Amino acid sequence: MYEKAQLAVASIRVRTPLAPTLGIILGSGLGNFASQVENAAIIPYSEIPHFPQSTVVGHSGKLVLGHIGGVSVAVMQGRVHAYEGYPMSEVTFPTRVLSLLGCKTLIVTNAAGGIRTDLPQGGLVAISDHINLTGTNAALGPNEPRFAVTPNAGQRFFDMSGAYSPKLRALAHAEAAKQGIALPEGVYLAVLGPSYETPAEIRAFRTLGADLVGMSTVHEVIIARHMGLEVLGISLVTNMAAGVLDQAINHEEVMETGQRVEAQFTSLLTALIPQIAA
Ligand code: 6GU
Repeated sequence: MYEKAQLAVASIRVRTPLAPTLGIILGSGLGNFASQVENAAIIPYSEIPHFPQSTVVGHSGKLVLGHIGGVSVAVMQGRVHAYEGYPMSEVTFPTRVLSLLGCKTLIVTNAAGGIRTDLPQGGLVAISDHINLTGTNAALGPNEPRFAVTPNAGQRFFDMSGAYSPKLRALAHAEAAKQGIALPEGVYLAVLGPSYETPAEIRAFRTLGADLVGMSTVHEVIIARHMGLEVLGISLVTNMAAGVLDQAINHEEVMETGQRVEAQFTSLLTALIPQIAA
């Protein structure tokens, strides 16, 4: 895996001399944020060795390198999910590549279903913690310390308290308040998918302490923390989870909501990036 990631990094370095310090993974419906990148080098995933390709509509699959607010960034427009049949090692391969490229911070975003009834549809939520109910773990297998970016990272057993950086969350809340954007906090629960949950599952997840539900993010965050990256997680509540409202959930709605909230998401993130990198 380490050698594969090095190959991917080498192929990216041929395309751009940029050394990104901040990695951003864009979730469903949030991909247009990549157009904020100035002087962009755009590399389709298909042109990066070993990079997994998404099979889902709305996940376009490009790595965009350049600057936002003076910060050198690597933006992943689209990600693959375990429900497509990829093992977690492949789902998190791009996260490893971002780290080897030089990123010390990761902003991970997703579309999520709202479990807590006071989270508005179309609202943004700062992820405070997660519950991994995917039944697996991306750090499974022999420990690989060579990806570590800080002296204490790369351990076999590693801490997940504070995985969603309290410092970065505080910056996000301050900036959201300044812009008049509501940014509550929530616990993100991850399932494998691709089926959405049943109403009974959502009731159970609420009892467990989950506020949001989705099919991504937790494995990227696990790997990012194993490597020692600082993480900010932002969810977009595209719809309420099953049984919260008396209506069915559909993927088109998920994508549409992303496009509607895009302006808020973009202005929040664009303002945050120089603060995060400072
Ligand atoms: Cl309701 N569930 C899951 N697992 N993922 C989602 C979602 C729901 N809404 C958006 N993404």
